[in-house]
Amino acid sequence: MTSPWPKQVVLCDVSPRDGLQNECKAVGTPQKIALVQGLMHAGLPRIEVTSFVSPKAIPQMADAHELMQGITRKPGAELVVLVPNLKGAERALACAPDELNLVMSVTGSHSQANLRMTPEQSFETLREVITQTREKVKLNVSLSCSFGCPFEGHVQAEQVLHWVRQFNALGVTGISLCDTTGMAYPSQVRELVEMVQSLAPTLRITLHFHNSRGLGLANVFEGLRAGVTHFDACTGGIGGCPYAPGASGNVCMEDIVHALHCEGIETGINLERLLQVSKDLGELLEHPLSGQVVYAGPRSRTYAVKDVARQAS
Ligand code: COA
Ligand code: ZN
Repeated sequence: MTSPWPKQVVLCDVSPRDGLQNECKAVGTPQKIALVQGLMHAGLPRIEVTSFVSPKAIPQMADAHELMQGITRKPGAELVVLVPNLKGAERALACAPDELNLVMSVTGSHSQANLRMTPEQSFETLREVITQTREKVKLNVSLSCSFGCPFEGHVQAEQVLHWVRQFNALGVTGISLCDTTGMAYPSQVRELVEMVQSLAPTLRITLHFHNSRGLGLANVFEGLRAGVTHFDACTGGIGGCPYAPGASGNVCMEDIVHALHCEGIETGINLERLLQVSKDLGELLEHPLSGQVVYAGPRSRTYAVKDVARQAS
């Protein structure tokens, strides 16, 4: 029987950016550097390190420059940074990231709340960024609220495809379909992915899910089934957009890695090391994280019967 899964997937850990932007506790730059280095040590092939956004909008990312400068690069680990406008792109390029992740929202209400622009203004802003930077760096575009909006509810596929067409014509490397507040469900994922694939067959698709309604891992597997090989996730399942009411944690990186390895899908990630990063992150943030494998252990974990018997007596 042939496997329904790809042989290998590329996971991007977005916990230093999507994760820490949603934490109340201010995390210092040295601790962020340690998190990024820990993720590299665990074998993450891509890490979204930070965002070059207005420090008034997201104070947690105000140290983007120092953070990028403090990281010791590792071959094979790509560093991605999120950018909303030209000022962000200029600040980012000074730190030599491997890729810019340009962000816009497909719904007017979330776009205004998050970026203080209409989607059309955002597109014009990003078009300028693309024109000025495409010779210098790889470019990805993240489309927030691709599966639903906390203000406008369900989002029609055409509302997403419209922007995919525009950005594909500008020659970007990839597009991320972002489920900003965990509204996606598996058949919706499959339909949207198939539509994007037929519209832009050579465009790299990344799926970015939040687990707000418990459908994260189901959506990842539906994406895999549709042939997607790039996914974002957060170690410890942290994360969320401060300008999207109800946004909660991204799908949990170590739970995905565990699930993929169970299916024989290669990630290049050392699960034991990643679990240690998750434990350290939980201690740093001083609250329980939402991942499950970090508590249960991998399915290879076994116990001695005598230990259970002693506890029960
Ligand atoms: N990096 C740093 N500062 C920036 C910036 C950037 N990328 N873009 C704008 N600024 C500064 C301006 O220089 C200006 O500073 P000043 O008040 O000291 O003069 C101030 O921010 C306002 O600039 P303006 O262009 O009017 O921006 P705005 O207030 O309309 O906000 C964004 C627009 C896009 C900059 C802001 O909404 C933002 O950064 N949003 C990001 C939200 C986010 O990251 N959400 C989660 C991830 S999806
Ligand atoms: Zn997100």
